[in-house]
Amino acid sequence: MSCTYSVRRFVKKYKWTILIAVLIMAALVAVLVYFLALAHAKDPTIEEEELNAYNLILSINEKMEKNLNRKTLAEWAYASNLTKANLDHNLAVSTEVANFQKEIWRQVNQYNWQQFSDYSLRRQFWYYSVIGEPALPEAKYKMLTKLVSDMESIYSTAKICELNNPNKCDLALEPDLTNIMATSNDEKELKHVWIEWRNSVGPKCKDSYKSYVELSNESARLNNFTDQGEFWLKDYEDPNIKEQIQGLWEQLRPLYLQIHAYVRFKLREKFGDLISEKGPIPAHLLGNMWGQTWDNIAERTLPYPDVETIDYTAAMLKQNYTPIKIFKTAEQFFKSINLTEMPETFWKNSILEKPADRELICHASAWDFYDQKDFRIKQCTDVTYEQMNTAHHEMGHIEYFLQYKDQPVPFRNGANDGFHEAVGDCISLSFETTKHLKKIGLISSASQDSKTVLNNLYRVGLAKIAFLPFGYLMDLWRWDVFSGKTTPDNYNCKWWELREKYQGLEPPVDRSEEDFDPAAKYHIIADVPYLRYFISFVVQFQFHRALCEKAGQYEPNNAKKPLHECDIYENTEAGNALKKMLSMGSSRPWPDAMEAITGQRKMDASGLLEYFKPLQEWLEAENKKNGVFIGWEKTKRVCVRNRQELKTGASDE
Ligand SMILES: *[C@@H]1O[C@H](CO)[C@@H](O)[C@H](O)[C@H]1NC(C)=O
Ligand SMILES: *[C@@H]1O[C@H](CO)[C@@H](O)[C@H](O)[C@H]1NC(C)=O
Ligand SMILES: *[C@@H]1O[C@H](CO)[C@@H](O)[C@H](O)[C@H]1NC(C)=O
Ligand SMILES: [Zn+2]
Repeated sequence: MSCTYSVRRFVKKYKWTILIAVLIMAALVAVLVYFLALAHAKDPTIEEEELNAYNLILSINEKMEKNLNRKTLAEWAYASNLTKANLDHNLAVSTEVANFQKEIWRQVNQYNWQQFSDYSLRRQFWYYSVIGEPALPEAKYKMLTKLVSDMESIYSTAKICELNNPNKCDLALEPDLTNIMATSNDEKELKHVWIEWRNSVGPKCKDSYKSYVELSNESARLNNFTDQGEFWLKDYEDPNIKEQIQGLWEQLRPLYLQIHAYVRFKLREKFGDLISEKGPIPAHLLGNMWGQTWDNIAERTLPYPDVETIDYTAAMLKQNYTPIKIFKTAEQFFKSINLTEMPETFWKNSILEKPADRELICHASAWDFYDQKDFRIKQCTDVTYEQMNTAHHEMGHIEYFLQYKDQPVPFRNGANDGFHEAVGDCISLSFETTKHLKKIGLISSASQDSKTVLNNLYRVGLAKIAFLPFGYLMDLWRWDVFSGKTTPDNYNCKWWELREKYQGLEPPVDRSEEDFDPAAKYHIIADVPYLRYFISFVVQFQFHRALCEKAGQYEPNNAKKPLHECDIYENTEAGNALKKMLSMGSSRPWPDAMEAITGQRKMDASGLLEYFKPLQEWLEAENKKNGVFIGWEKTKRVCVRNRQELKTGASDE
């Protein structure tokens, strides 16, 4: 009480003195702030530095274009013709270019570029300030490049023998093994191919892979990252990217469990007790060498087997599709929505069929040669419906290259790598509707009834939903390998632990650490991060939903316009929206690109869930009706240190 009273009295008595004191203090603060701001904004050295930097970046970009062109040409020469001479040339050129990149890196890091006022300039400097492998000393850089090239060569030239003909040993992954996995109903043959493919690649790559991990980590540390796994995540520009991905997977897992349970139930009808009722599914029975997509077994497990066949490969063969016709078909779709047609050089320089006169890397890929003219696809195209999708996928990459070709070199990238993978797939989501397949004559009969549509949605689900856990675990495995949490003496068993945990799959035979099954997958030995595919499988449905809304083909809660029946073919409004996003390249962080096309700034699984809603409801009801177990119990397969241990144990081999 008395305190309050005395303060009041004090204030009343010195009213004017206090007011003046406060005013003087405020003025002093204002002057101080003004000078601080002035010193910061008008620092003449920074301004001058920024002006210099602007000229520097122009000349760097010009030289970088030429260097990347040279490097890519040498890489192409090797990848499309695996000879010693081409490898040596490729190593020599990439070492020179790495040397150049390191030089640029040093120059750029002398600038206080973080303080530049121009956003685009700052961002270009940021890209040049982290270079990855070229940071290594020259000898080590060369060693790392050679390790990867050698593993690619082992993978791409591996051959195995036929099951019933041990003297016929020229079966290659593409097209022979891929086709056997996709079409054979002979469990013994599938198992043979599955095991022999892994025998012919895995053990040969193990030592190289160990050295590859060490050198990659060394390069990551030179770039100030703790390990290569962390380095891979930098372009997502988000410290919480791992948590976000895990959140997306948790949203999608219930849908995966339904399709997994249904497929296991249907396969048991076919293979009986080779598949346990409640266990993981043996990985060799899913139509694909890695069990990553399952659409090749669609016809054998259809929800409504009695309605119209959806053997689209048979339809393509009947209609005399060729590799060129497949790519022309894909191009037609892109053109119809006002995207760019393939330039003449594309048709001239691409490899669209497997050549017979040399060994090459058949794994499909799309190439930007950084001269704004030369863009190519290399694909050992076989006339199958799966390859039709691959053609759309690869052409989506070329379309991205074409739209951002006029950006400065550092921005000639996807908004993030997942975006790059999503373009062609997003187009496929329209292409693969029964509506569109009827339009191009792949489905002939008039039926557009709900059973045909559901059969088709199921087939798409076997490609898209089944892939999700695989897309996730590839890098879950590698993050732990790079961080050292997983060591070389448990590479393989850790791999199978993840395959079981996320995919609910098991190997057809017991495994050991003498096997090295991850290496039997291209992206592992070829040093290609994989999280991009998981992201792509989520965002492509966000893109699709946004484009379909623009095209007036989809409305939420309108049963007449469901997302899975939307086809944006010939809709230029949708195409222009896509084009605008693609042309941004990586000039802005990906949420800006996401916003440009969808209006939202986050990755979000609701597009995918919306698309598959009718399938999810059908699967839930069907599984319930059949009393199918959802999820899986622990596998009975074992994974041990040495093969020797398997011989004494209870193995059924
Ligand atoms: C493959 O490369 C070799 C050089 O190592 C060259 O002599 C040969 O002509 C190339 N083959 C083709 C088909 O380009
Ligand atoms: C790399 O660049 C340095 C100069 O920056 C040069 O001395 C060296 O010879 C170059 N090495 C190669 C392989 O070009
Ligand atoms: C291999 O031979 C067995 C027994 O003769 C036969 O049942 C099977 O169909 C053959 N498999 C292949 C792939 O030729
Ligand atoms: Zn791709």
